[in-house]
Amino acid sequence: MSESWSDLLMNDHQTTERVLEAVSKALSGPSAPEVGLMQDAARYFREYVDLCHNKKEEQHLFPLIEQRGVPRQGGPLAVMLSEHDDSRTLLPRLLALIDAYSAGRGSVLDELRQVFDEYSTLLRSHFWKENDILYPMARRVMSPADAEAVVAGIAATEAALGNETRARYYALAERIVTGGGGEDLSFGVEREVMAAILNTLPVELSFVDKDDNVRYFSHENGTKIFPRTRGVVGMAVQNCHPEKSVHLVNQILADFKAGKRSVAEFWIEMGGRFIHIRYFPVRSPQGDYLGTLEVVQDAAGIRALKGERRLLDEA
Ligand SMILES: [Fe+2]
Ligand SMILES: [Fe+2]
Repeated sequence: MSESWSDLLMNDHQTTERVLEAVSKALSGPSAPEVGLMQDAARYFREYVDLCHNKKEEQHLFPLIEQRGVPRQGGPLAVMLSEHDDSRTLLPRLLALIDAYSAGRGSVLDELRQVFDEYSTLLRSHFWKENDILYPMARRVMSPADAEAVVAGIAATEAALGNETRARYYALAERIVTGGGGEDLSFGVEREVMAAILNTLPVELSFVDKDDNVRYFSHENGTKIFPRTRGVVGMAVQNCHPEKSVHLVNQILADFKAGKRSVAEFWIEMGGRFIHIRYFPVRSPQGDYLGTLEVVQDAAGIRALKGERRLLDEA
């Protein structure tokens, strides 16, 4: 049996509640929430909750039950509509804070938590009222033909937003939910452990995202071959290089983005050290360019190795 209009809308509610819970968990965890997760959540709230789910109700369910005698003013329908408006007042604030956070402004985190909390509280209580009050009321006034018309309307709103709209956004929700648990980095390793692993590598890493902004570097608290400060995070990589090498940086990034090159390698000698620098394009499992990884190490010790060592040396 195909799903009823209220099953479809309540599934949206349930999926969204899981997303809210994952984001809330990410925002209250011991480490800063992942930028990618916050951006996915922003997309889900804007493109699915507001532009799809709310539209399905506003374009198909609400007008129909109004025609069947549920007043638009002064009752549950009015409350639902005014809560949609409230969510549309909060949403741009939330999205702007997520944008600022994504651009490296960690100082907005407290305000982000607060606005997200308001948004989440509003949505949860709204969903509850729809599930338990408005939808049962709607069912009582609707004929079977009305119910079919709402199902068709829901399908039309989704189709207007592209193929497989619901499946695509449910998959996005699933990604947020799995990522928000703090256990999806690799094989279930927690992010603190993963960060420690990266800081233990005998190479220094820096990562520039697909828009050429510096996002990450390892060994923040160690002595680095090329010292970096947290201030560079969020900056365009072109602004963190001496002017004479910017054309080289741009060439490497352009080659990586175009898929023309899979590594760029340099080595320099510096006061007895042999500094080996490599750049790699970072790609998603689907092959999309995610950014560029810089790997730097002093390879003097490795270059000087001779013969073999098969036994443990003195500790
Ligand atoms: Fe609603
Ligand atoms: Fe709803």
